[in-house]
Amino acid sequence: MCGIVGYIGRRDAIPVVLEGLRSLEYRGYDSAGLAVIYRNKLQVTKTAGRVQDLRDRVGDRARATIGIGHTRWATHGEPTDANAHPHTDSTGRIAIVHNGIIENAEQLRDALTQRGVALASDTDTEALAHMIAAEATDDTSLEDAVRRVLRHVEGTYGLVVLDTRNPAELVVARNGSPIVLGIGASEMFVASDVAALVRYTKQVVYLDDGEVAAVHASDYRVVSLDDSGRRASGGDKVPTTVEAEADDYELGPYEDFMRKEIHEQPEALRRALRGRLDDRFSTARLGGINLDARQLRSIRQVKFLGCGSAYYAGQMGAVLVEELARIPSDAEPASEFRYRNPVVDPDTLYVAVSQSGETLDTLMAVQELRRKGGQVIGAVNVVGSAIGRECGTGVFLHAGPEIAVASTKALTNMAASFAMLALLLGRVRDLSAASGQRMVTGLRALPGQMEAILADEEHIAEIARRFAAAEHMFFIGRVRGWPVAREGAQKLKEISYVHAEAYQAAELKHGPLALINASMPSVVVVPDDDLLSKNVSTIEQIKARGGPVIAVTSAELPPSLADAVIRIPRGEPELDPLLLNVPLQMLAYHIAAKLGRDIDKPRNLAKSVTVE
Ligand code: AGP
Repeated sequence: MCGIVGYIGRRDAIPVVLEGLRSLEYRGYDSAGLAVIYRNKLQVTKTAGRVQDLRDRVGDRARATIGIGHTRWATHGEPTDANAHPHTDSTGRIAIVHNGIIENAEQLRDALTQRGVALASDTDTEALAHMIAAEATDDTSLEDAVRRVLRHVEGTYGLVVLDTRNPAELVVARNGSPIVLGIGASEMFVASDVAALVRYTKQVVYLDDGEVAAVHASDYRVVSLDDSGRRASGGDKVPTTVEAEADDYELGPYEDFMRKEIHEQPEALRRALRGRLDDRFSTARLGGINLDARQLRSIRQVKFLGCGSAYYAGQMGAVLVEELARIPSDAEPASEFRYRNPVVDPDTLYVAVSQSGETLDTLMAVQELRRKGGQVIGAVNVVGSAIGRECGTGVFLHAGPEIAVASTKALTNMAASFAMLALLLGRVRDLSAASGQRMVTGLRALPGQMEAILADEEHIAEIARRFAAAEHMFFIGRVRGWPVAREGAQKLKEISYVHAEAYQAAELKHGPLALINASMPSVVVVPDDDLLSKNVSTIEQIKARGGPVIAVTSAELPPSLADAVIRIPRGEPELDPLLLNVPLQMLAYHIAAKLGRDIDKPRNLAKSVTVE
């Protein structure tokens, strides 16, 4: 995923931009570049290499007080110096950095070529630099020129523009790709992710889609892309305070962010539970969802919408809502929901689930729901993100920044938040105070139980190494264990590139058992619940066909039933999925480590998919 950094103020812009780019390196990139204005001239440095190569190339440049930088993940054109951002117009007056994809780039490039403009790169972005330069004439401000050009652009963008005519201004715009302003004391920062600016300021303004901002050292003005909104939005966007600390973006003693974040789960979970468990009424308090008891009672169905792991967390939520509140609940990938012209039921509570809060499919699902009058709340980790703002109400996950592409602690906090939502919905219905208190106590015990699982890491790593040569793996679960199995398979595929398939235990015998043999290990998720004997018999069926079994369980299993057993502490059965999921994260992590994968930057790079 590409990264953007911009600075304007009194500091030397080059180290600020380079440091910002360094903190975005975790998102993956293949080239980097920066541009500053020095003595009214653009100085552009680019490399098809690392940020350190860019630093070396820039060397001891003279001090500039305005600059922009970019890390690029190639989409249009190879990763070369020429294709790296920033891009400039032919006269070297305008420089632009851009995230996203311009869909009508070919048309725009052809139109420029016909006008005799020589294009220096194969990118979609360069066309914008030439078009903005043509519009930004003496009587047109840079902001107006950017707005005019963007009206001809189809696609997604988060972008920042520099103009040597006005070395005291950055113009930024957003449509489908995040842009955040950092507000300092007589200085301003721009980034595609708060990671790049949190060491300088905690006060941030998130741009919405269709907004353009003119940013100066001591003020900023946000306007909408079309003229009509110009007066309306003005400079009235109020900054929000970022929770994260600069250290949250550092590895500390860990070798990668995924392992760091796996180990942060007990603490992240404590944050998610803090102040939300109510012993007096044996329920949960979720102030952010803004619904009183009567409104909660009128909900007849709960539907979770998210993508990838957020969708699987939603599935865990749906099981919990049905169990505790006894109202129908299910989960659907937001990426399907948005395209199928869904029937929106006014009595259904829709929950949009997203770590980043920027996943386009989920955002589009929320917008579709709002258009159709659906009741939607967010379950989002990044405060101020697009989905959080679009939903307006919801539950913040408080997982802290999740840097690794593979979602771990955010998923745990999603599931914990849904357990609290289910408890709340249950307690305004028929869930007794005693059962409610059992859940309150169970939730409170989870962080300590998770610590016990993490302490067993070496045992899990040893199992991972034993099975790392497998080319395929099954992940089997039923009911509570089914979303856990799906998430386990997803983690393994995503970071180790081992083919993994999740299957419902009882469905195995309807076909896929044919695939079981000595080289197809199965990870079987076995909660200690009333389906235990069914799960034991599933393991026996797999063993009968010579398939190796790794059982992940909170139960006592018959001796030598499985080839390897990962035991988790026994808690409240409804909450078992939260605990069962953790060993599967570690299993995936250690298989990927054994296979020598780049764990924080796997080749899918599906962190937050903000472009189509
Ligand atoms: C999780 O490990 C994946 N990287 C991916 O499935 C992710 O959960 C999905 O893209 C949704 O992201 P979000 O939670 O930021 O919306």
